[in-house]
Amino acid sequence: MAVGIVSLQNKQQLSFVPNTEIQFCRTATNLGNGIKRLYHADNIDVLNALIDDSEVCGKVTLIYIDPPYNTGGAFETRDFKYAYDDRFSIQGYLEFMRKRLEIMHRLLSNEGSIYVHLDSNMVFHVKVMMDEIFGIQNFKGMITRKKCKSKNFTRKTYGNISDYILFYSKTDEPIWNRPYEEWSEEKILKEYPYIENNTGRRYKKVPIHAPGTRNGATGGPWHGMMPPQGKHWQFTPDKLDEMNANGEIYWSANGNPRRKVYFDQSNGVPVQDIWLDYLDVNNQNTLITGYPTEKNLDMLKRIVETSSRPGDLVLDCFAGSGTTLIAAEELGRQWIGIDIGEESISTIKERFKNGSKPMGDYVKKKTIKQNTPTLFEMDDFEEKKCIVKKEETTFDVFEEI
Ligand SMILES: C[S@@+](CC[C@H](N)C(=O)[O-])C[C@H]1O[C@@H](n2cnc3c(N)ncnc32)[C@H](O)[C@@H]1O
Repeated sequence: MAVGIVSLQNKQQLSFVPNTEIQFCRTATNLGNGIKRLYHADNIDVLNALIDDSEVCGKVTLIYIDPPYNTGGAFETRDFKYAYDDRFSIQGYLEFMRKRLEIMHRLLSNEGSIYVHLDSNMVFHVKVMMDEIFGIQNFKGMITRKKCKSKNFTRKTYGNISDYILFYSKTDEPIWNRPYEEWSEEKILKEYPYIENNTGRRYKKVPIHAPGTRNGATGGPWHGMMPPQGKHWQFTPDKLDEMNANGEIYWSANGNPRRKVYFDQSNGVPVQDIWLDYLDVNNQNTLITGYPTEKNLDMLKRIVETSSRPGDLVLDCFAGSGTTLIAAEELGRQWIGIDIGEESISTIKERFKNGSKPMGDYVKKKTIKQNTPTLFEMDDFEEKKCIVKKEETTFDVFEEI
């Protein structure tokens, strides 16, 4: 069982009205320019209020959320403090998500993107809903993330080690800073096996033709030969001449041209949609806050770097331990965090002040000491009065006995 999930003996449907009072709404004054806000409230109220906030509405570049997954459990911290509840009926859950996603869509800028982290329980339901809200043409992909090491399942099924991130943009012009992974030595040798004699540069050979016929110059002859049947040259004959003169074309023994692609011109391996390197907890030295379901900080940094620029505004309205906010802060973005839970807000404040600690410290109950540098103390924030439109949200939960 994942750390922090309380198992349920009995399930009863209840009506639950979340606390809608905003207890914190703080804006940094001495921490540089821009928006840095943390709200302690039901996000539906804050999101509604942000629609009327001209600094925010239509200006959010990136939203990452990791909402409850409807696991049917309730979560505790590593110190056994209540964190949050995750028990809905399916219909109640979808209604809860729809209301919030519709507002998030309005808050995004035209260059904005949203990432929604879920597990296999609800990801397909929410995908269909997001297709409606964001437009199926703006669905950019679904990332499969390996969340933990392999498990020895006693149940008769495959070990469940993945979760999913739905990725949508607001329009077809989102901010996109393509992420790359570093080459491993082994991969370099496999992908770029040749060395150029006169320069020592490592390269691979790729075809200079592509599928499909063309009527223009790329469909005509080059160097006395036509492209293979059903294909065309990838470059015009002039460009191919130039490349040949620069020694960038490799000629095989039987006279077939191939283009040389040099390793030193590669930015790295473009990131694909299966992420294996962002497990939540790797080992006893992994730095954590102790808040349940805390996500991997490096994964959040990848998302923030890929889908926003320095200075852009990032929103996480299910902030939890504040992983998105820390990533945004460390990468020089503005941010807004919202969470309904007491424990979440105190964890975020503690994390900004004292950082995270090695997991081993929690397991061995060592005196927990600071391990990451202080970003700032939330007490430095200036309390600001926030007016929110209150909306009573009723949804079904299951009572723990
Ligand atoms: C899965 S956790 C988020 C974990 C976070 N990504 C992290 O790295 O720590 C989900 C969070 O959503 C919060 N939450 C649930 N319902 C909420 C609501 N209506 N408004 C605001 N926050 C809510 C919970 O308190 C919990 O902290």
